[in-house]
Amino acid sequence: MIFHVPVLVESVIHFLITNPEGIYVDGTIGGGGHADAILKGLDQKGRLIGIDQDDEAVLFCQKRFSSAGNQILILHNAFEHIDRVLNELSISEIDGLFMDLGVSSHQIDTIERGFSYMSDGPLSMQMNTHQSLDAREIVNAYSEEVLADLFYRYGEERHARRIARAIVQERQKKVIQSTGELANLVRRITPSRYHVKILSRIWQAIRIEVNDELGQLQRGFKRIYPYLKMGGRIVVIGYHSLEDRLIKRFFRGECATFSKMEKQTIPSGYDFRVLTRRVVRPNEEEIQRNPRARSARLRAAEKYMPTYFKTAENVR
Ligand SMILES: C[S@@+](CC[C@H](N)C(=O)[O-])C[C@H]1O[C@@H](n2cnc3c(N)ncnc32)[C@H](O)[C@@H]1O
Repeated sequence: MIFHVPVLVESVIHFLITNPEGIYVDGTIGGGGHADAILKGLDQKGRLIGIDQDDEAVLFCQKRFSSAGNQILILHNAFEHIDRVLNELSISEIDGLFMDLGVSSHQIDTIERGFSYMSDGPLSMQMNTHQSLDAREIVNAYSEEVLADLFYRYGEERHARRIARAIVQERQKKVIQSTGELANLVRRITPSRYHVKILSRIWQAIRIEVNDELGQLQRGFKRIYPYLKMGGRIVVIGYHSLEDRLIKRFFRGECATFSKMEKQTIPSGYDFRVLTRRVVRPNEEEIQRNPRARSARLRAAEKYMPTYFKTAENVR
């Protein structure tokens, strides 16, 4: 089984690597496809730290890159703890951060992980199998209102209320144990021609909640910023509109602090130069080759400070 086919590899390398001797972080190493390309873009002095919150990804990459020596270090962690990881390694500055969000093909294709509504597995959906919250708890313990809100906010699903109500009625009879049971219940009460879309949205919503995906992203961004060199890059691939919005705002939001700076406020926020005026998407040829690339959207930005604010104190 192929672990994962990396998407938009050339664009990632194009935007990410500014210094082949630099230190880079892959915050979601997965099967290491992008990591491999990043390593090829570095020279012997360059280093890559790869992290993932999934044990299976970490083990897979530790084997995959066993001959790369200390050019790459692969660690089990969540990218929201990226600052701790760098501190422990005594790294105070990095040249770039790459993140390829969401789930790997390996996770989707492993039935026991519960990431797919197309097969019957346990209701898990945990990327980090050491955490306690899982999909089973969400489906069986969250109130009807909270479930409906979750499906609406994280799944942008119109039938959110109806689905939440049906779940609560079903679980009064018996605990909902498997992905098959949940998928069948959703199929029973929604129009058949929309089943695929509705199930994808419900799965997306539960997965985001189980793994606190948006919270992780926000905290990760905030914590990495002080470690990014001036001119260092952040390149992120997102797969749904919620994370894409968050990435766009983060990059743009930092530019918004620029207006405060014009009012002579001391810069306390973050500043980026956005490098992708338009989001980068895979072309048809890539989508043909790898249908899972279809929803990928890449954005990149560079840490930046307007020249007239450059003083010995505020430039790291
Ligand atoms: C789309 S895959 C990455 C694929 C990878 N770029 C490759 O080429 O194989 C996403 C990976 O990110 C990991 N992940 C998602 N959120 C994470 C987080 N907050 N912290 C660490 N890893 C995370 C998942 O476990 C998964 O392995």
